[in-house]
Amino acid sequence: MAEQLLDGFGRVHRDLRISVTDRCNFRCTYCMPADGLEWLPRDGILTFEEITRLARIMVERYGVNGIRLTGGEPTVRANLPTLVGMLAALGTDLAMTTNGVSLPLLAADLRAAGLRRVNVSCDSLRADRFAELTRRDALTRVLDGIDAARDAGFDPVKVNCVVMRGVNDDEIADFVEFGRAKGVEVRFIEFMPLDADGIWTNDLVVPVNEILARVNEASPVEPVERTSAPASRYRFADGSGHVGIVASVSDSFCSTCDRVRLTADGQFRNCLFAVTETDVRALLRAGADDDEIAAALEASVASKWAGHQINRVNFIKPRRSMSQIGG
Ligand code: 5AD
Ligand code: SF4
Repeated sequence: MAEQLLDGFGRVHRDLRISVTDRCNFRCTYCMPADGLEWLPRDGILTFEEITRLARIMVERYGVNGIRLTGGEPTVRANLPTLVGMLAALGTDLAMTTNGVSLPLLAADLRAAGLRRVNVSCDSLRADRFAELTRRDALTRVLDGIDAARDAGFDPVKVNCVVMRGVNDDEIADFVEFGRAKGVEVRFIEFMPLDADGIWTNDLVVPVNEILARVNEASPVEPVERTSAPASRYRFADGSGHVGIVASVSDSFCSTCDRVRLTADGQFRNCLFAVTETDVRALLRAGADDDEIAAALEASVASKWAGHQINRVNFIKPRRSMSQIGG
């Protein structure tokens, strides 16, 4: 494997995130408008064969070594374990980010099919607040889903908590306790301007230092050496596990970014915040061979920018929201 997905800043891309559907069974307030989004037509969605072909090209040619399934909500896609089996055969790390609600039903099948890791999104541990945030009264089910993931043998199970000032930032200590008690790794994420309703303002962002201070108050932590992963990891001083903080806004990790993304409708994106996409679905369906597809992927990555410009005047919010890009 001589080739690399290299951009103009020397970053080698080895992490592929695949959105398998833009649909979701939740309507998180910061993600979707109350009346939902218009879903993509089904024939616009890549088939399992198309997804696997793209992933195979990226693994074989460019040494992609991590694949993460996202949505919308990935478990809304019918027969997801079948796709997991097809992708697992490529031999990379294979993970999924989910709202957790389907895990009581699906965790064991996904694990058996070859999924290695799951991240469950959960922004509140209070039933009423959870229902308000997701527009679905499903906290108990999500907590059952986290248990189901652990019972199925996923290790680690991570819980993603998007922190929003005045919304759920009073729960940081509760999440710390929850993580320690359950043996799951909580990751606090700074709120990014990708919400469908455009409610994001800088005031809603709780910066990493503040999150860290509150974590420390709840239970003292010490930093773990930093990798290319976007989360800064900390270990509890008493040895009871780890916690992560993703400083997506205040301390952007763009300079070490190794991610590329594929949307459910087959658009290749070189950044979460990209404003242009490469239509690989059109190539696939026009009978392009592997070399032609690879050339399009390389051209996209070669044109990647240095990083997002959140909080600068030249920041442009992408046309698609998180549920359509997949996080
Ligand atoms: N800012 C930060 N994180 C977000 N997520 C969804 N929307 C946002 C946002 N605007 C999170 C989800 C999930 C992951 C895919 O990204 O909660 O954990
Ligand atoms: Fe669904 Fe995730 Fe968006 Fe919530 S944030 S509506 S769970 S896709």
